[in-house]
Amino acid sequence: MEIFTQDGFSQFVRALHVLAGIAWIGLLYYFNLVQVPAFAAYGDEGKARNISIDKLARRALWWFRWASIVTLVLGLLIIGVTKDYMQDFMSDLATNDLAHDSAIFVGMLLGILMAANVWMVIWKNQRTVLANAANVLGGGEADPNAPAAGRRALLASRQNMIFSFSMLWFMVGSAHFYGGAFDVDSAGKAWTFVIIAVVIGAILELNCLGKLGGTAATNKLLWPYESHKNAMITGGVLFVVLYVLSEILLKA
Ligand code: HEM
Repeated sequence: MEIFTQDGFSQFVRALHVLAGIAWIGLLYYFNLVQVPAFAAYGDEGKARNISIDKLARRALWWFRWASIVTLVLGLLIIGVTKDYMQDFMSDLATNDLAHDSAIFVGMLLGILMAANVWMVIWKNQRTVLANAANVLGGGEADPNAPAAGRRALLASRQNMIFSFSMLWFMVGSAHFYGGAFDVDSAGKAWTFVIIAVVIGAILELNCLGKLGGTAATNKLLWPYESHKNAMITGGVLFVVLYVLSEILLKA
């Protein structure tokens, strides 16, 4: 029974990680591509919208946030249970598999940022939105903070959609596209790739949090988040930029 060996267990954790990741990112796309446009199409049917938030979005958000944490924990567990993973990672920095290491570093960085967005921005603000919907349905007063909370969650959710294309490419690519031997003399190039990716990721993250000019719809920097189409275009551009850089800097 392969599964009871260290390699088998590592493969099992990897498979569970991918399964949880699919659940998480699948729900992220559901929110961005289906739920947000559908709720907007309700127009001013306040009651229908509040029922949908209370009964449907509440459930979707439960699976979404727990799938994100399970994905994160299992991803980190892969490192813990895979034979010599960290040892190889550290020694690669002085030998020849920098392409794999750079790719998984960037994939994980984006994944961890996305999980932080889920818990620290999206869920934090959606709690206000959910509480407001339940309260209004029960005959209470609308919370004046709910629309702004919903907007903050939306910006982070669209930012996660933007990150997701590149995250998945480098996550999968670490083992499958960037595994080839990489000249040790190119360490500088690998570091250049990682640093550029970190800087771009940090700028986008700060932007979606409104730290580069606020969260108002008049802020031109927030163009990537004003529709799911804009988010997909931005995600595509980010992917192309990182992909081209990786071709130049990570391939021998
Ligand atoms: C949240 C943070 C995440 C962390 C810390 C993480 C960590 C990892 C690690 C360490 C690996 C092994 C890479 C290697 O072979 O060297 C991996 C592989 C992988 N991860 Fe993630 N991951 C995260 C998020 C995600 C998400 C959201 C998905 C979406 C589906 C995902 C899908 C995958 C896939 C498909 C593989 C490749 C499995 C293989 O080909 O062996 N990961 N991840």
